[in-house]
Amino acid sequence: MGRLIIVSNRVAMPSRDGGAQAGGLAVAIRAALRHRPGVWFGWSGRVAPQQAVTTSELRQGGLSYVVTDLAQEDYDEYYNGFANRVLWPILHYRLDLAEYSRRDLTGYMRVNEHFASELHKLLQPDDVIWVHDYHLMPLARMLRERGHRNRIGFFLHVPFPPAEIMAALPHHERLIPTMSHYDLVGFQTENDAGNFARYLERESRSRKLDAHTYLVGDRRVRVSAFPISIETAEFNRLARRASRSPFVKNVLESLSGHIMMIGVDRLDYTKGLGLRMDAFERFLEAHPDWSGLVTYLQITPKSRSSIAEYAEMERELGAKAGRINATFGEASWTPIRYVNRTYSRSVLAGLYRASRMGLVTPLRDGMNLVAKEFVAAQDPDDPGILILSRFAGAASELSAALLVNPYDPEAVGHAIERALIMSIEERRQRHAALYEVIAKHDINRWSEDFLSALAGTAWSSGTELPPERTEPVAPRLAVGTGLARRGMASGTHG
Ligand code: G6P
Repeated sequence: MGRLIIVSNRVAMPSRDGGAQAGGLAVAIRAALRHRPGVWFGWSGRVAPQQAVTTSELRQGGLSYVVTDLAQEDYDEYYNGFANRVLWPILHYRLDLAEYSRRDLTGYMRVNEHFASELHKLLQPDDVIWVHDYHLMPLARMLRERGHRNRIGFFLHVPFPPAEIMAALPHHERLIPTMSHYDLVGFQTENDAGNFARYLERESRSRKLDAHTYLVGDRRVRVSAFPISIETAEFNRLARRASRSPFVKNVLESLSGHIMMIGVDRLDYTKGLGLRMDAFERFLEAHPDWSGLVTYLQITPKSRSSIAEYAEMERELGAKAGRINATFGEASWTPIRYVNRTYSRSVLAGLYRASRMGLVTPLRDGMNLVAKEFVAAQDPDDPGILILSRFAGAASELSAALLVNPYDPEAVGHAIERALIMSIEERRQRHAALYEVIAKHDINRWSEDFLSALAGTAWSSGTELPPERTEPVAPRLAVGTGLARRGMASGTHG
């Protein structure tokens, strides 16, 4: 069996003590790599002076991690610029926040070329390549241009909006259709896959060959939904253990018997955090009898702080939590505990289990694994209730949650009250229905489904591709002098 080469912007390197760091994407990728030899390639997380950009390898536990630095201008233009100030908002339906610049697009293409050049050095003909997320949309085309006929799959972790929105991205017609150089393009939901398929039909005159296959120019691409999931059974075990940990016990003691509701989100405007606090405020206004009895713990690690919208949000949310606490709080009770810290997976699992309610109310989200983890962590005899935005990808599977419109704080406030007074029978029934979904569709199922669909795309070695080439060729989009610089950057010094 060939190796599995995973490519993503971020690589979760094993921590010094040999354990694994764990975020949703990291856990998912590790599960994919568990059953076969593999390489995980991506950004080292370091920003180095241009002349000191290096690519290095670490081998651990049968896996090889190959990571490359970004130069300051790459970080500004590719990561903060095109990926996070243009693609991120547009893919989350926020055209109003997109700040396009030609320079950032150039930097984005340059870093993708750099990734392709570094991968070119390590690829073998029978490797299967799986590329993750919006940072790396054009990577397959760049690999094809270097002569690689391997099976290459792509999975988009975030939503894909309707074609009308995507078409507002300047030069979308030069970027999005390059995704047809993947053999398989996977999305979180049928809705996202349908939006991409309609984009191909409308904007790049593709032809539909069967339910899932499109012909774009001379490339065939399969388009399908593969809802990502979690290690359900393992997370449940973790939560059971963690709920007895001194840390979680301490948190519970500090609540002095108050009911806890919890939200855990990266600080991001897509998460609907301001509206969620508004909803809690509406709930307190409408139901003063609950005052002093419920504490809302919102854990929000900071993210992408050098982007203006994120820095602004940081200020706004802190001020909003302060105002609500000042208005409704008492000497013995703080309504909102708003914490900008990162906690371990095990602490979060224990806190989910100790909460009566999980609030997951993004304005738009690819999947949202917090929703699935919250369900996995519950005690089936006394489970907490999930309040879930209908605009999270998870809503299409988790229909037994209390589904809400996150733009309507009154309705969310009402859902909070409903969860608080819900009978134990109804809580158990809802939880059993939700758990069944995530027990069947866990993370192993996700990677198996994706990789077997990729294996079923038989056309990579077919005739549609240009003849094999060994030398890198210049990219089709003008990228300035980046490629030449990048060519030198590999190895130890650039
Ligand atoms: C989302 C994206 C991931 C990204 C993560 C954290 O989940 O889909 O690709 O890694 O956010 O964002 P960051 O910019 O810190 O990598």
